[in-house]
Amino acid sequence: MYKEIQLTRAKSLSKKEIGLIDSFNHQFRKRDFHVVPDGNSVQILLREVDMPRLKKSVEELSAGNGLLTDILAAVEGVGGYGIRGKKRDYVNYNKERKVKNRAAKELQRGKFYYAKDHGYSARNSDVPARYVNKIICGDSATVLKKLPDNCVDLIFTSPPYNFGLDYAAGADDFDWPGYFDKLFAVFDQCIRVLKHGGRIVVNIQPLYSDYIPSHHIISNHFINKKLIWKGEILWEKNNYNCKYTAWGSWKSPGNPYLKYTWEFIEIFCKGDIKKPGRRDDADISAEEFKRWVVGKWSIAPERRMKQFNHPAMFPESLARRVLKLFSFRGDFVVDPFNGAGTTTLAAGQSGRRFLGIDISEEYCQTAEDRLSQSEIRF
Ligand SMILES: C[S@@+](CC[C@H](N)C(=O)[O-])C[C@H]1O[C@@H](n2cnc3c(N)ncnc32)[C@H](O)[C@@H]1O
Repeated sequence: MYKEIQLTRAKSLSKKEIGLIDSFNHQFRKRDFHVVPDGNSVQILLREVDMPRLKKSVEELSAGNGLLTDILAAVEGVGGYGIRGKKRDYVNYNKERKVKNRAAKELQRGKFYYAKDHGYSARNSDVPARYVNKIICGDSATVLKKLPDNCVDLIFTSPPYNFGLDYAAGADDFDWPGYFDKLFAVFDQCIRVLKHGGRIVVNIQPLYSDYIPSHHIISNHFINKKLIWKGEILWEKNNYNCKYTAWGSWKSPGNPYLKYTWEFIEIFCKGDIKKPGRRDDADISAEEFKRWVVGKWSIAPERRMKQFNHPAMFPESLARRVLKLFSFRGDFVVDPFNGAGTTTLAAGQSGRRFLGIDISEEYCQTAEDRLSQSEIRF
């Protein structure tokens, strides 16, 4: 038994191409992988495939002919497979599943029950040109009020964590209820301006020493607002020299203190889990997609915070990943806590439209300088 895929060509296969397929087939066991030429199409039969080997033989045999490259792309495009040793298993991986009648059981359970009667309008609007490709200095709770409902495709942000950092403007040491009140005033505006199908992606670190699970409290707020939880990414920073060296109660279960080398990224959707967009405007490669849908990202922290005079930046590569995985080229991206402008820079560099808001004039200037240095028009 094989998994079958059909690849149709513009013209009938030439003799040379049929010869190529023959040589290609000889490189693999017929029971694992086989290609059958048929007029102007090829049938690709998959059972178990060693991908690096497949790629290597395509490289060796192609000699400028695109047929084998297209076959390889078609195989790479198959999403459903398991891993058996070094090979992709396209046929038997499902048999190992423990849950029988999975689809019926999914239907019985229902998905995101907490967001079912959200009541969000599906009518999206265009953002006025005066907010496009702009850095605005101000309190986001006020600035965002000027934007119309349903006009933003993606919000990616990292709010102040209330850790007591010395930002150029605004406090970072509120009592916790006051902190969440201020934060949610901004997030409620974010929800309002998000399009139906838009996403809000929040990078956050709880303050373990105060026993405040900020990532859960924020997620609960979004769930109460009937957004759909799309997932959580662990941003592994690999910073093993964490601050706390006193481990609560040394060698005693009395009060051990847990340490973390990662931060959290919470992803929520408004109205619909699926985001509309043209396939041609997706700019993520197959390799990137495969690596980044695994929800643990190992990325080093930003090392140039002194240079930009900002105490809590995230790295450009983190912003680039979020933008490519969750938005299309041309989308309108907003960061309401834009700081030194990492999100707006990544957005400008990747062909997204952007708006960055920060309460500090100094950070807004830095964000603008970074855009200018990258020759991005704003
Ligand atoms: C964690 S930093 C964001 C850093 C940013 N991701 C970067 O890479 O540069 C949070 C930012 O929120 C800003 N901020 C705090 N309160 C704000 C508010 N009410 N409106 C707009 N910005 C605010 C701070 O000035 C700070 O730059």
